Amino acid sequence: MISDYQQFCQKHVDGALQQLLTAPSAPLQRLYHAMHYSVMNGGKRIRPLLVFASCQALGGDVKDAYGAACAVELIHAYSLVHDDLPAMDDDDLRRGQPTTHKAFDEAYAILAGDALQSLAFDALSDEALSPISCQQRLDMLKVLSSAAGARGMVGGQAIDLSAVGQAISIDTLELMHRHKTGALIEASVHLGAIASNAATPQALAALQQYAQAIGLAFQVQDDILDVTSDTQTLGKQQGSDIEHDKPTYPVLLGLKEAQAYALSLRDQALAALGIFDQRAEHLRQLAHYIVARSH
Ligand code: IPE
Ligand code: IPE
Ligand code: MG
Ligand code: MG
Ligand code: MG
Repeated sequence: MISDYQQFCQKHVDGALQQLLTAPSAPLQRLYHAMHYSVMNGGKRIRPLLVFASCQALGGDVKDAYGAACAVELIHAYSLVHDDLPAMDDDDLRRGQPTTHKAFDEAYAILAGDALQSLAFDALSDEALSPISCQQRLDMLKVLSSAAGARGMVGGQAIDLSAVGQAISIDTLELMHRHKTGALIEASVHLGAIASNAATPQALAALQQYAQAIGLAFQVQDDILDVTSDTQTLGKQQGSDIEHDKPTYPVLLGLKEAQAYALSLRDQALAALGIFDQRAEHLRQLAHYIVARSH
């Protein structure tokens, strides 16, 4: 069951994250409180799960992937804190709680996001978190920094903001999704492969195909849920995309076609895993979960 595996990942990554989020001195208490609030608030931990599952698909040990799992979740958490800011999506609810700028203030939300981003690279370079080689660590730094930055998530957020209220093409929409959400999901799978230290070029290429498909499917489903779900289930404001005139798959394709597209991406992801044995089962289950999830 993917839910059992999700709980397993959540338990392990949350234990490690908790330690990273303890204030070292009294004057930093409020900043650390804002960081802790932004991370330890019930996220699904899909990206750490992908790091672990990809490592295990290649026969690796999840202990070698702890640093990477924490790092990718910290980047994700920072991206959400900034995504919710008034200058961006201006949302008040995240994971069923007030967004960080509502619970604290805008300045602290900006600073908490900044600090979470730096902490991610701290976690990745921390020997105590994962006993991997310097070369593996360097490879991981390259993968995560480029996925998080202007050529990845931040670039996608910029395309997203510049597309508000515009009639964009389906190709631009896909480019935006592949950057803003796909890049970190692809990086998660890649980081797990590096942690395993056992990826052949053929396995890496197959994992990349898988990750590209589920990365896009993840944001297509996020757009669908903004239309079809409700605020309580989502833990974030339903209808936020429509209210802010965001370009989304349901807007461009229609709901039915967006749903069909998500399913076809799931099937592409499963096909890419054809060369793997049962150790890739968690990756397979995750592909099913991504398009079936309700939040
Ligand atoms: C939400 O991501 C934002 C997107 C990138 C679509 P998740 O759905 O993984 O959010 P949490 O971490 O579980 O709250
Ligand atoms: C956010 O996309 C993607 C990132 C934070 C990089 P959305 O704006 O669709 O995410 P939600 O719906 O607010 O979670
Ligand atoms: Mg956004
Ligand atoms: Mg948003
Ligand atoms: Mg969304």
